[in-house]
Amino acid sequence: MAAKLGLWFLPFLLFFLMNGVNIGCRDLKAELQGHTEMNSHHGNLNRPNYLIGYKTNAHGSDKDFSSSSTNVDHTEAFKVGYFAMDDLFVGNIMTLQFPVEEVPHFLSKKEADSIPFSTSQLPTVLQLFSISQDSPQAKFMRDTLELCEAGMLTQETRICANSLDSMLEFVNNILGSEEKHNIYTTSPPSGAPLQNYTILKVSEDIYAPKWVACHPLPYPYAVYYCHFIATNTRIFKVLLVGENGDKVEALGVCHLDTSEFNPNHVIFKQLGFMPGEAPLCHFFPLKNLMWVPQPTATTM
Ligand SMILES: *[C@@H]1O[C@H](CO)[C@@H](O)[C@H](O)[C@H]1NC(C)=O
Repeated sequence: MAAKLGLWFLPFLLFFLMNGVNIGCRDLKAELQGHTEMNSHHGNLNRPNYLIGYKTNAHGSDKDFSSSSTNVDHTEAFKVGYFAMDDLFVGNIMTLQFPVEEVPHFLSKKEADSIPFSTSQLPTVLQLFSISQDSPQAKFMRDTLELCEAGMLTQETRICANSLDSMLEFVNNILGSEEKHNIYTTSPPSGAPLQNYTILKVSEDIYAPKWVACHPLPYPYAVYYCHFIATNTRIFKVLLVGENGDKVEALGVCHLDTSEFNPNHVIFKQLGFMPGEAPLCHFFPLKNLMWVPQPTATTM
């Protein structure tokens, strides 16, 4: 099992897999911390917005559009990682990109909790990190805080984790602290450019009665938007090959119930259906994490 899953784990977790060791959270924590403390880059602040479920969403288009068109070109949706379930078949060609993502290091829980984390206190935070008020960074930080303060979907549970401890606490709350967890992500971490990719293989669904997806947000230190939506979800891996020969193993997720999603989001226009009419799927960008419970003997 471990060897088979190996490619899908974060590269810095390979250590555990190669030793055939199940990942307990304590070990994982040490490993993540060890890695992240070495990595002091600031985040790449330009990324597609793929969190569209929240209600007070400033990113979506406000334009009206009529529903279901049969012959819609999905290319623009593909470019930001979205697709319809019908697009998922071996041999299909999709225009995709997997940009390298640099996530800054985690602060310790103590450090993170000592720094204000709210839009009202943004000026203080900017001062603390010597970031100018009208810089692009400040704008991205405001977006992050607004996202973290926005309303949730009815069936969504989420936090903005400002430390690894708070991420793990949330994961344990959702998945159960007695259980061991698997982590999946998209690889390789070196990414792959915008080009046409052919689907070589679609995996069986990953065992995920519950899951926690964690998406890094632009901030001077590591902040992840971690959430679980308690509606039917399919999680799977897709092996892709680019025109240049690059192979990508992308983690894919389909939300089967989209009825609560923001109808004004441009992605629905690009895919040609309205929320509630069809599943919405997306590939995980690099460094985005999917936590699922490890199947036990009885669930295999
Ligand atoms: C992908 O293929 C289509 C059809 O051949 C072509 O028009 C398009 O330019 C290609 N896209 C990229 C990014 O190469």
